[in-house]
Amino acid sequence: MSGIRTKLWRIEQHRDATGLREQLLEASARLRAGGLVAFPTETVYGLGADARNADAVERIFAAKGRPSDNPLIVHVASIAAAEALANEIGPVERRLMETFWPGPLTVVLPVRPGAVSPRVTAGLDTVAVRLPAHDIARELIALADVPVAAPSANRSGRPSPTLAEHVREDLNGRIDGIVDGGAADVGLESTVAMVDPDGAVRVLRPGGVSAEALAAAGFDVAPADADDAAAEDAGAAPRSPGVKYTHYAPKGRLCVVEGAPEAVRASIQARLDADAAEGARTAVLAFAPAPPGAADAYRGAHKLIALADAPGDAATAANRLYAALRACDAARIERLYAEGLVEPTGLGRAFLNRLRKAAGHRIVTV
Ligand code: TXA
Ligand code: MG
Repeated sequence: MSGIRTKLWRIEQHRDATGLREQLLEASARLRAGGLVAFPTETVYGLGADARNADAVERIFAAKGRPSDNPLIVHVASIAAAEALANEIGPVERRLMETFWPGPLTVVLPVRPGAVSPRVTAGLDTVAVRLPAHDIARELIALADVPVAAPSANRSGRPSPTLAEHVREDLNGRIDGIVDGGAADVGLESTVAMVDPDGAVRVLRPGGVSAEALAAAGFDVAPADADDAAAEDAGAAPRSPGVKYTHYAPKGRLCVVEGAPEAVRASIQARLDADAAEGARTAVLAFAPAPPGAADAYRGAHKLIALADAPGDAATAANRLYAALRACDAARIERLYAEGLVEPTGLGRAFLNRLRKAAGHRIVTV
């Protein structure tokens, strides 16, 4: 499928109402006709296709190089459209939708037979549904007037795209078009949640709506599995436990160093010194502001990227993580070290989940 012309709709340049609508009408017509169209959401860019159209959904898997037993999230523009996809919506699911939609929460519902292609659900009897907060995403889906299956718009195994440019890097020539709506806001994929038979909300993948936010809104939250990444893998293929996918991986070898800030810095510096002796190209993803005399903070690193301007700033780090991993690939970095200087609560839990996965679970505690 490579070699097709990928159209770029530059929404940012057509913010006036008429120009915007024309662009979105064209993009939505492509979607409705079975095309693959990437679009911005508040989490990351998605690669959309009509969820009812088996051929279009098949093309998503082909364009991404995605394992076909990993189900897709279906995006809708209204709660009524979500109702059309589900057999029934229980009271807790309904309250989740009413509380957090539109927003970065995906709710797993019993699928209504025939509502979407079985390729979307990978043969499960549930479907994951999300109503995004991004106005361009909502408008596009409403105009297309179809349920839109959309995984993150990256090649499988690459970091998710937070800019249209990232989508182009990965999928130019493989998809019909890209709606460029500027930078994604959260920077990490949505929270995926399902409701247990006892009414507790189980987080299968941590994201923009945290367990704390769920609890604060009065939901009973099922205790998280010790390893969120393992929980996501279980959610990815609940009928085939043990299947593991590599996600979000940079080309170089990433190691996360966690512990007290001073110990973390000392440990990373020692690793850089050893790497320098071997002539490896290295990068550090750092939290803290560069200390005075910054030029030689992390001596010998080829690249020093600020994930955030202060330790503990999970929102900024979440927003910058995927672009940082891509920048390291572009600079042909062979070894990456990330300061794991954030608490595993709120958005910090989602950030650490993605960072640890990108590291293939190479985590050092000092
Ligand atoms: O923020 C997001 O969710 C982005 C944007 C584009 O909306 N989309 C996204 O899609 O991250 P994707 O395909 O990369 O991730 C889908 C996740 C996977 O972890 C998958 O296993 C899970 O949702 N999932 C999908 N359907 C499911 C189901 N029926 N039961 C359990 N988990 C499901
Ligand atoms: Mg993805």
